[in-house]
Parts: sequence; C-alpha cells; structure tokens
Amino acid sequence: MHRYEKRNLPVDKVRRFLEPGPIVLVSSKWKGATNIMTMGWHMVMGFEPSLIGCYIWEENHSFEMLRTSKECVINIPTEDIAAKVVGIGNSSGRDIDKFKKFRLTAAPGKKVKAPLIAECYANFECRLADSSLINRYSLFVWEVVKAHAASSPRYPRTIHYRGDGVFMLSDGNTSRYRRLFKSQNL
Ligand SMILES: Cc1cc2nc3c(=O)[nH]c(=O)nc-3n(C[C@H](O)[C@H](O)[C@H](O)COP(=O)(O)O)c2cc1C
Repeated sequence: MHRYEKRNLPVDKVRRFLEPGPIVLVSSKWKGATNIMTMGWHMVMGFEPSLIGCYIWEENHSFEMLRTSKECVINIPTEDIAAKVVGIGNSSGRDIDKFKKFRLTAAPGKKVKAPLIAECYANFECRLADSSLINRYSLFVWEVVKAHAASSPRYPRTIHYRGDGVFMLSDGNTSRYRRLFKSQNL
C-alpha cells in the first residue's frame, strides 16, 4: 500500500477528482426550436423517484429553454461521437442548430417534447422536479420519467472529463472487488 505525499490543492481543483461521471448531452425544446448542450456536472440525487441534479450555467442558451419548458432529455454519448460532444460544448444554440451542424438525429420522446438523440447509447426523459435551487446555485433537479438504453455493448465506452481538455474513456472494468461488495449498496 502506498502512502501519498501531498501538497496543497487549490479548492477549485477538487472537482477534477470528483467529476468523472460520464459526459452527457442535454437536449431541449422550446417554442419549436431544439438545442443540445454538453454537461459534466451532474449527480444522482435518488433513485425512487429517479432524481438527477445538474449544474447548468445561466449564460448557456439551454438555461432559459430548460427553465421555461421544464423538460429535457439526458443523453449518454459514447466515444464514437466524442468530437461532436466537444463541438456541442463549444458552440451555442443561440447561433446554430446543433442537430443540423453535428448531424445528429432528433427522435421523439414518449413523455417529453424535448428530443432524444438517436446516436446516444441511452436517453433519459426528464421533467423538472425542483426549481428552488436554480436561482441560487444554477442547480436543476430533474426526475427521470422515462428511460431508454441499449443493451449491447453491455458496458458502453463513455466519455469522462478530467479538466483542462483531458478526457478519459471508460474501459477496464474489474469484478475483482465484487465479493467485498454489499449488494444493498447498489
Ligand atoms: C466537457 C464539457 C463539459 C461541460 N459541462 C458543463 C456543465 O456541467 N454545465 C454547464 O452549464 N456547461 C457545461 N459545459 C459548457 C456548455 O456545454 C457550453 O457552454 C455550451 O456551449 C452551451 O450551449 P448552449 O449555449 O447551446 O446552451 C461543458 C462543456 C464541455 C466541453
């Protein structure tokens, strides 16, 4: 076992250790227009109901679309569309139609008007469950009301962000620790 020598870490860098959930694409629809944004800052806040907290910067075009429509789809992209994921995060729906520009297919949802992205491995249709933290923290609490996911490959190669333009791809699963794991920990 290794004891790590440590130095002071500026608190604003802490996020890099906690961030690597998959990067997702948040799609929205408002007044006939659709949009997509790239998002890394999300967290699970419960599973019955299924709640996801998302930090959405107020300067993003998506912010007002999401706040007013009260709906979104959280899409899980895989490595094959990583360049599009970064491009979507570096452009704004204020200036371009991102479905068109990045050649992605908008598929209809079952419960929300926001479109599913057909090229993503999974799509979670969401309704705004709690808006009370938006003004203070830009935190949208979504409830997943319908979920669609592919079954193959079993473990998709998702994209994770480590800060400074460095990404990590999910692979290298291990079941080595499974016998130590209590199933009630989900
Ligand atoms: C890897 C990556 C992760 C991002 N994560 C977030 C995030 O968690 N929250 C956020 O508000 N913006 C995030 N962004 C920035 C938005 O995707 C970006 O501002 C985007 O252009 C917004 O598009 P819109 O103006 O069409 O809404 C991220 C961008 C990248 C490239």
